[in-house]
Amino acid sequence: MNNIDTPPITPQQYEVLHGGGAEAAEIAKQRLSRRRFLRRSMLAVWGLSATAAVAGALDMLYPGLSGSFGSSLVVGKKADFKPATPAQFKLETAGVYHRPVARTYVVHLAPDTKWLLTGQSLQDQLGSEWVTKDSDGSYWIALYQRCVHLGCTVPFRDDCLSFKCPCHGSHYNVNGEFLDGPAPRSLDRFRMSFSGDDVVVNTGLLNYPNQPVPHPDPTTRLLPIPTVQCSAGG
Ligand code: FES
Repeated sequence: MNNIDTPPITPQQYEVLHGGGAEAAEIAKQRLSRRRFLRRSMLAVWGLSATAAVAGALDMLYPGLSGSFGSSLVVGKKADFKPATPAQFKLETAGVYHRPVARTYVVHLAPDTKWLLTGQSLQDQLGSEWVTKDSDGSYWIALYQRCVHLGCTVPFRDDCLSFKCPCHGSHYNVNGEFLDGPAPRSLDRFRMSFSGDDVVVNTGLLNYPNQPVPHPDPTTRLLPIPTVQCSAGG
């Protein structure tokens, strides 16, 4: 049986090969080149198969790398997120929108939002809290839905105008700033951006642990504390 090391030869070539001489040397050279070519072809096919298998395994192990949580996700069009001032916030209607696929609350604050800080202090604090200013003067934040105390999903409470964790009561303002409870810091947030009219949340890029938002104090708090009382129940 033939294999790549013994490619077939014609009866005439067999005669010449076994007779020796320059012609025999030329035929032997051609057969060697053919063996090299076949070997290299088989190695190339094997390499391509191995690469495809590794890519498939990575996709199974890390599905977040391709269009699900853990990657950049388009969560809607800008027009899907009507802005509001904090006192007008209503879940899915004004200012705050839950996007479970990104485990994110998209917060959209109206241009006339009253901030507690001004000037450079305001700009610095907006930057440190990953607040994105839009060209129309409104402000966007992508808050991670996970409570920074022990990880429960935090609901937005229309009746409280704030986020209140049902597990141990951690309480956060509309922009995720800590209000009260056992949480060690303000809510975490993802980096967000725009692609044309698309709103994009990079769920692979969280501010924690490199740039957490600590408990606010009078020099850093961005928004007034809501005046409505917030009971423990929903
Ligand atoms: S997990 Fe939210 S307060 Fe404990």
